[in-house]
Amino acid sequence: MAAGGLETLFLKVDGNCPDPEIIRQAGLVLRRGGLVAFPTETVYGLGANALDEAAVRKIFIAKGRPMDNPLILHISDMESIYLYADSVPAKARVLMERFWPGPVTFILRRGGRVPEAVSPGLTGLAFRMPDHPVALALIRVAGVPVAAPSANLSGRPSPTTAEHVRRDLSGRIDMILDGGPAGLGLESTVVDMTGDLPVILRPGGITPEQIMDAVGPVELDRSVEVAGETVKKPRSPGMKYRHYAPSAPLVLVEGDGAPVIAEIKRIALEYIGKGKKVGVICRRENIGQYEGVLAVSAGASNDPASVAASLYGALRYFDDSGVDVILAEGVGNRGLGLAVNNRLRRAAGGKVVRVG
Ligand code: TXA
Ligand code: MG
Repeated sequence: MAAGGLETLFLKVDGNCPDPEIIRQAGLVLRRGGLVAFPTETVYGLGANALDEAAVRKIFIAKGRPMDNPLILHISDMESIYLYADSVPAKARVLMERFWPGPVTFILRRGGRVPEAVSPGLTGLAFRMPDHPVALALIRVAGVPVAAPSANLSGRPSPTTAEHVRRDLSGRIDMILDGGPAGLGLESTVVDMTGDLPVILRPGGITPEQIMDAVGPVELDRSVEVAGETVKKPRSPGMKYRHYAPSAPLVLVEGDGAPVIAEIKRIALEYIGKGKKVGVICRRENIGQYEGVLAVSAGASNDPASVAASLYGALRYFDDSGVDVILAEGVGNRGLGLAVNNRLRRAAGGKVVRVG
């Protein structure tokens, strides 16, 4: 038994074609008010029966999450929207039909059946239909909507493997379903649909361009553009918390190609001169450029999806490695790059250098 006192059952399950008996067991845990971590196509989630207030509260305790940071309601069919939202605007319906199941979350007005503990103090409630066979089967078998944040301890990077979940939450939750690595590696896009225009509160797997293509103009919340700075009145409560911060300070170097590498080498030498241990997060093709530092490759240039898939693993690696500083190559804002950059900027907490 690990810290926290619960015996956490760790079950392997085929990510594409999950064993119905294992899903039945997991569904039963949820129905009885327990917590189950499960894979999605973005990151691993920590689920509880969203209609059971006591179960929902357990999520906050297990993660050490501030009680006013709202949870996403995960559903497996469109009808659930009408059961648990107060109203469904036409544009929201269009977006759901286009992108669900998939890596995007829509905020609608919360309906009366959902306990306030899921989105405390707010009229909005976040909905997502994940595109993962294990997640969908679990929600279906549980027969209830599943409230689920990312399955990490509060303040750690979202987990992209079941092992990450085990490291953070073993002894604190009832069950972990290991369905292999999460696909995308970054959390879903969060879009507020309660006003006239959709507002992107958190960039993620579905890009602003894709949303615009489906329903016309969208707004980016200020917190997206100035990630890393303090935003006084965030629309999404999660944004006001200093999100994930690596144990070692992270300096993000943005720009193109050679000047970025040169600047990182320059900063690295400064630290090494002071006897410090330096870690670098770089593109695969640049790894040979960094000598005398602990360099970890996260994806390839011109392929933000590959950076997304390996970024959180790299950050977790450095949390465990005892480096004094992390220097990271930035990525462009195009497509999925906006989401990757947003997470990097948050991890840097304002320490961003622009070159070139
Ligand atoms: O990909 C994902 O979205 C993953 C998987 C497990 O589905 N979930 C996830 O949940 O990342 P979480 O709780 O770690 O992040 C949800 C974000 C938080 O920043 C939260 O504040 C915001 O969405 N959010 C949730 N409900 C909201 C609401 N009603 N109004 C405004 N923001 C909300
Ligand atoms: Mg989270």
